[in-house]
Amino acid sequence: MNTLTAFTRVSVLAARVISPNQEVTYGTAQPFSYRAMQARARSSRHRCIERQYRRLRVRQRTDDARTVRHHEATFIQTPKDTMTQTIRPFDLQAVRRDAREHIEKGAITVGYSADLPAVLKMLNDSLATELVCVLRYRRHHFMARGIHSQAVAAEFLAHANEELGHADLLATRIAQLGGEPDFSPSTLLSRSHADYAPGNDLADMIREDLIAERIAIDSYRHGIASLGDKDPTTRCLLESILAMEEEHADDLADLLQHLPTPPVTAH
Ligand SMILES: [Fe+2]
Ligand SMILES: [Fe+2]
Repeated sequence: MNTLTAFTRVSVLAARVISPNQEVTYGTAQPFSYRAMQARARSSRHRCIERQYRRLRVRQRTDDARTVRHHEATFIQTPKDTMTQTIRPFDLQAVRRDAREHIEKGAITVGYSADLPAVLKMLNDSLATELVCVLRYRRHHFMARGIHSQAVAAEFLAHANEELGHADLLATRIAQLGGEPDFSPSTLLSRSHADYAPGNDLADMIREDLIAERIAIDSYRHGIASLGDKDPTTRCLLESILAMEEEHADDLADLLQHLPTPPVTAH
């Protein structure tokens, strides 16, 4: 066999190895198929892609779950939850039965969920506070002295009248809830949150009134927070009074700030 013949045979063998349509047997080895190899490669690649896709799906579901948890933690309620919580079950039959059976209770119906004795005590304590404030402001009105006393005395009187209006509103609500407004003078000061401070001069009077207003503000805030949504009518009343007490406090702080300081006398 010359060189050319040997080269041709080797080329033919090489061509048969890489031919996609032929099976080639080398001794005892398994038949080799390029097409089968391609199929296995495609299958293997397909399984690999499937695995990657599955991993991505798992990751996506995990991310989705995290997103939902984040959303719930951030916004607490979805609109659907809000709706179901806003529209509570309403037992109309029970409401009708109570309305007929306990007619003597007036405004106190089965839906009233506040602690009534506690609400009445809170309202009576507020009433006592308002009445003490009326007395203190009226004394300050008549006892205001000095060059700047006229405008301040008028402010004291205006506040006194508004505190009396608050006392009337509170007494009306106490009666509406089936309680008794307590106007007893013997226990008035001990039940009041604010003090009855006569005041030594104009600045002292304003200061004492401002302190009383600040006490009233926090008392009403506490009452409003305690009521929550259990007695909305009383809460609205306290909120309206609170707004006026804040105005009073602001007026007094303004007066105190603009009151000329008395000249310091030399010893
Ligand atoms: Fe008041
Ligand atoms: Fe006030």
